[in-house]
Amino acid sequence: MSSGHCMTGKKIILGVTGGIAAYKAVEVASRLRKAGAEVHVIMTRAAQEFVTELTFREITGNPVNTGMWGKVAHWNVEHIALAQMADLVLVAPATANLIAKLSIGMADDMLTTTILATRAPVFLAPAMNSNMFSNPVTQKNLETLRAQGMEIIPPASGHLACGVDGVGRLPEPVDIVARVEEYFCQGQSLKGRKILVTAGGTIAPIDPVRFIGNRSSGKMGYAVAEEAARRGAEVVLVLGVSALPDLGNARTIRVETTEEMRQAVLQEFSDSDAVIKAAAVADYRVKQVAGQKIKKSDDDWSIDLVRNPDILYELGQKKEHQVLVGFAAETQNLMEYAKKKLAKKNLDFIVANDVTMPGAGFQGETNIARLVFRDGRAEEHPMMKKSELACVILDHLEGIFRERCARVE
Ligand code: C5P
Repeated sequence: MSSGHCMTGKKIILGVTGGIAAYKAVEVASRLRKAGAEVHVIMTRAAQEFVTELTFREITGNPVNTGMWGKVAHWNVEHIALAQMADLVLVAPATANLIAKLSIGMADDMLTTTILATRAPVFLAPAMNSNMFSNPVTQKNLETLRAQGMEIIPPASGHLACGVDGVGRLPEPVDIVARVEEYFCQGQSLKGRKILVTAGGTIAPIDPVRFIGNRSSGKMGYAVAEEAARRGAEVVLVLGVSALPDLGNARTIRVETTEEMRQAVLQEFSDSDAVIKAAAVADYRVKQVAGQKIKKSDDDWSIDLVRNPDILYELGQKKEHQVLVGFAAETQNLMEYAKKKLAKKNLDFIVANDVTMPGAGFQGETNIARLVFRDGRAEEHPMMKKSELACVILDHLEGIFRERCARVE
């Protein structure tokens, strides 16, 4: 994958701690900036004994943080402002001392405080004497940090400044920056693709105050849209009735009825690369929607319903290059119904779930699904978070895109 512009505009906090390898952090800063990142350096007290603040200021073009009590470069509480704006925190070199402090959540300087306060991913590149590195306490601390989700860039082996050969060298700046670049680029596997997602339920109005609806929360489709956007796709989310907010980095079109959803979907369809229809679409609408609230009487009341268009079926007829993914929420005969829908609606695959199973279906955070493909293959997945199932679905979608590419070549 080309690294392209994955790093452009990314805000990276580069933490520099006091080891002899601190001088290599200058090259790390320079390479990050050349790759397009905005670099903000935080130096520990000890780091300033090895390299000057001025060097980093010149290399990054930004003020350098050297302590908690100095001049303020950003409005807001300084460490919180930095922690919040960061897309990633990289500490290179990370000394045994810093690693130990982080492992117990200490926050006694600007760097440790920022790391404790950030929600951005944290990458550490340890560099130290090989005995310090292999010391069980350092290894245990690293393990603790790894378990918390921090990424440890393993040190290289070779000649160390202390005169011995062993593990503990800071990896080459080019390799450290490559690792960071890989992180930012991996999310871009759907860049250049337009993905149309529907989610939530549509309703059938009866009169200005009443409607017929369903139990869909919109969470499954929302998770798919969120993940597709994270992977760099241009995402359009057509969202039916749902309590969920507009998606941050996608276009959200809110609809209520099936006809409104149909209009929105048809409008966005022709230049879409894939449509993932996770919405629970109302199959019927009220034949005669009353203009005024229908007053109750002592009699029973029946309502005539007429069939709504099947949007996905319509897309299946129209489809050219688009990949179509449907959902089948069933309460019985799951596989049989799923296979029928796959064929009838001309889908590439269908995500089938039995909504009666605990841990599956509408309102919850988890789902249990089977993916059924055109060639009859079915893939069964255990209960997982909807966000994880979204990854599974998009991995398959990417697989289909790749297959098509290979066929064209
Ligand atoms: O036929 P059924 O409604 O069970 O199929 C479910 C799949 O079809 C879902 O992907 C749903 O979003 C879509 N659908 C649709 N238009 C309808 C009904 C369902 O697009 N009117």
